[in-house]
Amino acid sequence: CVQAHFAPAVIAWQCSHGRHGLPWQRSREPYRVWLSEIMLQQTQVSTVLAYYERFLQRFPDVHALAAAGSDEVMAAWSGLGYYSRARNLHRCAQVVVAEHGGQFPRTAQALAELPGIGRSTAAAIAAFCFGERAAILDGNVKRVLTRVLGFGEDLAQARHERALWDEATALLPHEDMGTYTQGLMDLGATVCLARSPQCLLCPVQALCAARAEGRPEAYPVKTRK
Ligand code: ADE
Repeated sequence: CVQAHFAPAVIAWQCSHGRHGLPWQRSREPYRVWLSEIMLQQTQVSTVLAYYERFLQRFPDVHALAAAGSDEVMAAWSGLGYYSRARNLHRCAQVVVAEHGGQFPRTAQALAELPGIGRSTAAAIAAFCFGERAAILDGNVKRVLTRVLGFGEDLAQARHERALWDEATALLPHEDMGTYTQGLMDLGATVCLARSPQCLLCPVQALCAARAEGRPEAYPVKTRK
Protein backbone atom coordinates (compact mmCIF):
# COMPACT_ATOMS: atom_id res chain seq x y z
CA CYS A 1 0.00 0.00 0.00
CA VAL A 2 2.86 2.32 -0.82
CA GLN A 3 0.63 3.38 -3.71
CA ALA A 4 -2.11 4.86 -1.51
CA HIS A 5 0.05 6.39 1.22
CA PHE A 6 3.17 7.70 -0.46
CA ALA A 7 1.94 10.91 -2.12
CA PRO A 8 -0.23 12.12 0.79
CA ALA A 9 2.70 11.63 3.17
CA VAL A 10 5.07 13.56 0.89
CA ILE A 11 2.55 16.39 0.49
CA ALA A 12 1.90 16.70 4.24
CA TRP A 13 5.65 16.66 4.95
CA GLN A 14 6.31 19.31 2.32
CA CYS A 15 3.77 21.62 3.96
CA SER A 16 5.41 21.39 7.39
CA HIS A 17 9.08 20.54 6.68
CA GLY A 18 9.83 21.28 3.03
CA ARG A 19 11.57 24.36 1.74
CA HIS A 20 9.34 27.42 1.42
CA GLY A 21 9.65 31.08 0.57
CA LEU A 22 12.27 30.66 -2.14
CA PRO A 23 11.96 33.38 -4.79
CA TRP A 24 10.98 31.02 -7.62
CA GLN A 25 8.20 29.54 -5.49
CA ARG A 26 6.40 32.90 -5.46
CA SER A 27 5.52 32.65 -9.14
CA ARG A 28 3.87 30.16 -11.44
CA GLU A 29 5.00 32.08 -14.46
CA PRO A 30 6.66 29.54 -16.77
CA TYR A 31 9.58 31.84 -17.61
CA ARG A 32 10.50 32.24 -13.94
CA VAL A 33 9.93 28.59 -13.05
CA TRP A 34 11.88 27.40 -16.10
CA LEU A 35 14.83 29.70 -15.27
CA SER A 36 14.94 28.43 -11.67
CA GLU A 37 14.75 24.76 -12.70
CA ILE A 38 17.63 25.16 -15.16
CA MET A 39 19.74 26.99 -12.56
CA LEU A 40 18.92 24.37 -9.88
CA GLN A 41 19.80 21.38 -12.09
CA GLN A 42 23.45 21.27 -11.10
CA THR A 43 23.74 24.10 -8.60
CA GLN A 44 22.74 24.31 -4.94
CA VAL A 45 19.85 26.47 -3.78
CA SER A 46 22.16 28.76 -1.78
CA THR A 47 24.23 29.57 -4.87
CA VAL A 48 21.24 29.99 -7.17
CA LEU A 49 19.70 32.53 -4.79
CA ALA A 50 22.48 35.01 -5.54
CA TYR A 51 22.01 34.74 -9.31
CA TYR A 52 18.30 34.27 -9.87
CA GLU A 53 16.95 37.73 -9.05
CA ARG A 54 19.86 39.48 -10.73
CA PHE A 55 19.32 37.45 -13.91
CA LEU A 56 15.63 38.35 -13.88
CA GLN A 57 16.37 42.03 -13.45
CA ARG A 58 18.62 41.91 -16.49
CA PHE A 59 16.27 39.66 -18.53
CA PRO A 60 12.76 40.18 -17.10
CA ASP A 61 10.95 38.04 -19.67
CA VAL A 62 11.52 35.56 -22.47
CA HIS A 63 11.56 38.32 -25.09
CA ALA A 64 14.36 40.20 -23.34
CA LEU A 65 16.39 37.01 -23.01
CA ALA A 66 15.83 35.97 -26.63
CA ALA A 67 16.89 39.41 -27.89
CA ALA A 68 20.06 39.58 -25.77
CA GLY A 69 23.52 38.86 -27.15
CA SER A 70 25.21 35.57 -26.19
CA ASP A 71 27.96 37.51 -24.47
CA GLU A 72 25.43 39.24 -22.19
CA VAL A 73 23.74 35.95 -21.31
CA MET A 74 27.06 34.25 -20.60
CA ALA A 75 28.12 37.20 -18.44
CA ALA A 76 24.95 36.95 -16.33
CA TRP A 77 25.50 33.19 -15.97
CA SER A 78 29.18 33.54 -15.18
CA GLY A 79 29.97 31.74 -11.91
CA LEU A 80 27.10 29.24 -12.09
CA GLY A 81 29.14 26.77 -14.16
CA TYR A 82 27.99 24.12 -16.63
CA TYR A 83 27.86 26.74 -19.36
CA SER A 84 26.02 24.56 -21.87
CA ARG A 85 23.01 25.31 -19.67
CA ALA A 86 23.34 29.02 -20.48
CA ARG A 87 23.70 28.37 -24.22
CA ASN A 88 20.62 26.14 -24.20
CA LEU A 89 18.75 28.67 -22.07
CA HIS A 90 19.36 31.37 -24.65
CA ARG A 91 18.44 29.06 -27.57
CA CYS A 92 15.32 27.94 -25.72
CA ALA A 93 14.18 31.56 -25.25
CA GLN A 94 14.71 32.18 -28.97
CA VAL A 95 12.67 29.08 -29.91
CA VAL A 96 9.85 30.07 -27.52
CA VAL A 97 9.70 33.51 -29.13
CA ALA A 98 10.12 32.37 -32.74
CA GLU A 99 7.97 29.23 -32.68
CA HIS A 100 5.55 29.68 -29.77
CA GLY A 101 4.76 33.40 -29.91
CA GLY A 102 6.63 34.02 -26.66
CA GLN A 103 4.47 31.60 -24.64
CA PHE A 104 5.97 28.46 -23.13
CA PRO A 105 4.08 25.30 -24.16
CA ARG A 106 1.70 24.09 -21.46
CA THR A 107 2.39 20.35 -21.42
CA ALA A 108 5.39 18.37 -20.21
CA GLN A 109 5.60 16.57 -23.52
CA ALA A 110 5.84 19.80 -25.53
CA LEU A 111 8.21 21.43 -23.01
CA ALA A 112 10.58 18.47 -23.35
CA GLU A 113 11.12 19.30 -27.02
CA LEU A 114 12.74 22.64 -26.18
CA PRO A 115 16.53 23.04 -25.96
CA GLY A 116 17.95 22.12 -22.56
CA ILE A 117 14.67 20.82 -21.12
CA GLY A 118 14.80 17.10 -20.40
CA ARG A 119 11.91 14.89 -19.37
CA SER A 120 12.25 15.55 -15.64
CA THR A 121 12.65 19.33 -15.94
CA ALA A 122 9.70 19.46 -18.34
CA ALA A 123 7.59 17.56 -15.82
CA ALA A 124 8.64 19.85 -12.96
CA ILE A 125 7.70 22.97 -14.93
CA ALA A 126 4.37 21.47 -16.02
CA ALA A 127 3.57 20.40 -12.44
CA PHE A 128 4.51 23.74 -10.86
CA CYS A 129 2.92 26.00 -13.49
CA PHE A 130 -0.04 23.99 -14.74
CA GLY A 131 -0.62 21.25 -12.14
CA GLU A 132 0.01 18.54 -14.73
CA ARG A 133 0.31 14.97 -13.44
CA ALA A 134 3.80 14.34 -14.79
CA ALA A 135 6.54 12.45 -12.93
CA ILE A 136 9.96 13.92 -12.18
CA LEU A 137 13.01 11.68 -11.89
CA ASP A 138 16.26 13.53 -11.27
CA GLY A 139 19.18 12.11 -9.31
CA ASN A 140 17.72 12.89 -5.89
CA VAL A 141 14.29 11.51 -6.77
CA LYS A 142 15.80 8.31 -8.18
CA ARG A 143 17.39 7.77 -4.78
CA VAL A 144 14.11 8.36 -2.90
CA LEU A 145 12.04 6.11 -5.14
CA THR A 146 14.51 3.23 -5.49
CA ARG A 147 14.73 3.13 -1.69
CA VAL A 148 11.03 3.33 -0.98
CA LEU A 149 10.24 0.70 -3.60
CA GLY A 150 13.30 -1.47 -2.97
CA PHE A 151 13.99 -1.09 -6.68
CA GLY A 152 17.22 -3.08 -7.07
CA GLU A 153 17.77 -2.94 -10.83
CA ASP A 154 20.62 -1.09 -12.50
CA LEU A 155 19.35 2.27 -13.79
CA ALA A 156 22.16 2.44 -16.33
CA GLN A 157 20.07 -0.01 -18.34
CA ALA A 158 17.41 1.83 -20.30
CA ARG A 159 14.67 -0.72 -19.66
CA HIS A 160 15.17 -0.46 -15.90
CA GLU A 161 15.17 3.31 -16.02
CA ARG A 162 11.93 3.14 -18.02
CA ALA A 163 10.44 0.86 -15.38
CA LEU A 164 11.29 3.38 -12.65
CA TRP A 165 9.66 6.18 -14.68
CA ASP A 166 6.53 4.01 -14.79
CA GLU A 167 6.69 3.47 -11.03
CA ALA A 168 7.12 7.21 -10.49
CA THR A 169 4.07 7.84 -12.66
CA ALA A 170 2.00 5.29 -10.75
CA LEU A 171 2.76 7.12 -7.47
CA LEU A 172 1.50 10.54 -8.64
CA PRO A 173 -1.32 12.12 -6.64
CA HIS A 174 -4.48 13.43 -8.29
CA GLU A 175 -4.11 16.88 -6.74
CA ASP A 176 -1.47 19.18 -5.24
CA MET A 177 1.05 18.31 -7.94
CA GLY A 178 3.19 21.35 -7.21
CA THR A 179 3.48 20.58 -3.50
CA TYR A 180 4.11 16.89 -4.22
CA THR A 181 6.83 17.64 -6.79
CA GLN A 182 8.60 20.10 -4.50
CA GLY A 183 8.21 17.64 -1.61
CA LEU A 184 9.96 14.85 -3.52
CA MET A 185 12.82 17.19 -4.43
CA ASP A 186 13.16 18.47 -0.88
CA LEU A 187 12.97 14.99 0.65
CA GLY A 188 15.80 13.88 -1.62
CA ALA A 189 17.87 16.99 -0.91
CA THR A 190 17.43 17.18 2.87
CA VAL A 191 16.43 13.77 4.32
CA CYS A 192 16.98 10.87 1.93
CA LEU A 193 20.68 11.66 1.58
CA ALA A 194 23.08 9.48 -0.40
CA ARG A 195 25.20 8.87 2.69
CA SER A 196 23.66 8.85 6.18
CA PRO A 197 20.01 9.15 5.20
CA GLN A 198 17.94 10.66 8.02
CA CYS A 199 15.32 7.90 8.11
CA LEU A 200 13.96 8.89 11.52
CA LEU A 201 12.91 12.24 10.03
CA CYS A 202 11.36 10.70 6.93
CA PRO A 203 7.60 10.89 6.36
CA VAL A 204 7.63 7.61 4.41
CA GLN A 205 9.91 5.59 6.69
CA ALA A 206 7.08 3.14 7.44
CA LEU A 207 6.60 2.50 3.71
CA CYS A 208 10.26 2.23 2.78
CA ALA A 209 11.51 -1.15 1.56
CA ALA A 210 15.17 -0.17 1.85
CA ARG A 211 14.69 0.85 5.48
CA ALA A 212 12.89 -2.43 6.21
CA GLU A 213 15.88 -4.23 4.74
CA GLY A 214 18.10 -2.14 7.02
CA ARG A 215 20.23 -0.90 4.14
CA PRO A 216 18.95 2.33 2.63
CA GLU A 217 22.41 3.27 1.39
CA ALA A 218 22.47 0.23 -0.92
CA TYR A 219 20.10 2.10 -3.27
CA PRO A 220 20.17 3.10 -6.03
CA VAL A 221 22.04 -0.03 -7.10
CA LYS A 222 25.17 0.72 -9.11
CA THR A 223 26.75 -2.17 -10.99
CA ARG A 224 30.45 -2.17 -11.76
CA LYS A 225 31.35 -0.74 -15.13
N1 ADE B 1 16.36 21.14 -7.84
C1 ADE B 1 15.72 21.18 -9.02
N2 ADE B 1 14.57 21.86 -8.92
C2 ADE B 1 14.48 22.27 -7.63
C3 ADE B 1 13.52 22.99 -6.90
N3 ADE B 1 12.42 23.46 -7.49
N4 ADE B 1 13.75 23.19 -5.59
C4 ADE B 1 14.85 22.73 -5.02
N5 ADE B 1 15.79 22.03 -5.64
C5 ADE B 1 15.60 21.80 -6.95
